[in-house]
Amino acid sequence: MIATGFDLNDPAVIADPYPHYAWLREQAPVYHSTAPDLWILSRYDDVATAVRDASRFSSDLGTAAEFTDNPFSPGMRLPRRLAGIVDRVVPVRTLLTSDPPDHTRLRKKVSRAFTPRRITLWEARINEIADDLVDDLVLASKRGESVDLVRDLASPLPTAVIAEMMGIPAHRHPQFKRWSDNLVDGLLTDGSTPRMLAAAVGIAGFFARVVRDRRRNPGDDLISLLVTPDADGDALSLVELIQFCVLLLVAGNETTTNLVSNAVLALLDRPDLWHAIVADPELAGAAVEEAVRYDSPGQGLLRIARSDTVLNGITIPAGARVLPLIGSANRDPRHWDDPDEFRLDRSRNDHLAYGIGIHFCLGSALARIEAKAALRALAARTPHLAHAEPLARIPSPVLRGLRSLPIHIGADDSSRRP
Ligand code: HEM
Repeated sequence: MIATGFDLNDPAVIADPYPHYAWLREQAPVYHSTAPDLWILSRYDDVATAVRDASRFSSDLGTAAEFTDNPFSPGMRLPRRLAGIVDRVVPVRTLLTSDPPDHTRLRKKVSRAFTPRRITLWEARINEIADDLVDDLVLASKRGESVDLVRDLASPLPTAVIAEMMGIPAHRHPQFKRWSDNLVDGLLTDGSTPRMLAAAVGIAGFFARVVRDRRRNPGDDLISLLVTPDADGDALSLVELIQFCVLLLVAGNETTTNLVSNAVLALLDRPDLWHAIVADPELAGAAVEEAVRYDSPGQGLLRIARSDTVLNGITIPAGARVLPLIGSANRDPRHWDDPDEFRLDRSRNDHLAYGIGIHFCLGSALARIEAKAALRALAARTPHLAHAEPLARIPSPVLRGLRSLPIHIGADDSSRRP
């Protein structure tokens, strides 16, 4: 089993972090890792405190120029000159990484675009997009082609949805997806830094043109809404708009892809649960909620201790980088019954997968609708679904998900199209 210590970037941790988290929770709930230099929190209560308490734990990680030792992508070293470019584009000091009062001002301006009412209006269209993708993968399988759940459904679904919500024309979607993938891979996994920079520059120029266009010709899409001043006459600047659009891609695409892949994998590994969903698609909502707890797409967040702070009797020094492990909190037996069981009948769902407090995920309603749409479409058309090997994991300690999940579709399963 686990000896002593915890190495965030150990391939064994990335493959299956949960036994390692159990060791941390029992033996070292406030663990100081020296390489990378991080204070790692693993118990539910400590994780919730650090994520929620913005007065003690800051989200302001500094600029890319200051943030040269990215603990999640150890290979990434940005020369200062290039870091300046990233700072202008990537949301290093926007909503996600700002504290009050900046955060309060920005959040007020953008949250009107993500009210539950607005997001629910998209549900029917999201179901259609998921149905179309599942139809395509059934047809591909019937033609004898290999089918991959990540490539063919989990990955294209959130990009197609957000691109449509933003009013991006369909012919631009593939380019849009490449930029988004290259940005996230470069920032958080083993992707190439030059590709990440090219994507940052490409996408910033693209959004700048879209914003200018929507200011002149507003439509009923998300970007048109965001360029319009709010009820107080307050509007986002061009740079804020570009950074927020990029943030939506960075925060929303990969996470939702991973939720869909993790949910499908968990269900196919438990055929009785998969059959329950096939028999009663209404259970898809419970499956999505359990999947985001059981195998959280974002396993950890970063915070900076504002002053010396004592947790569990240990002093975290002022200025230290803190890593509250959401993935561990969501498996803490102090908080959950049978935390390592995947169950569709949990009575509580106060997991921390979407965060807690002022930075609570703006896109959680959207992610839930998308993941439910994917499960329902699969359950309706591919009841005999099974997964094959080998599956490939994303090589990241904070993004938990799959690069590839080959699937088999039953001979009798059918698409809606002839
Ligand atoms: C399963 C999918 C998702 C997961 C697990 C997830 C997780 C999270 C978490 C944990 C946070 C809090 C970060 C913090 O406290 O530092 C967050 C914030 C955020 N998420 Fe999500 N997210 C998902 C999907 C989405 C989607 C689809 C969008 C939008 C299209 C989105 C947009 C955002 C934004 C804008 C923030 C920043 C909010 C703020 O700082 O006030 N997320 N998300």
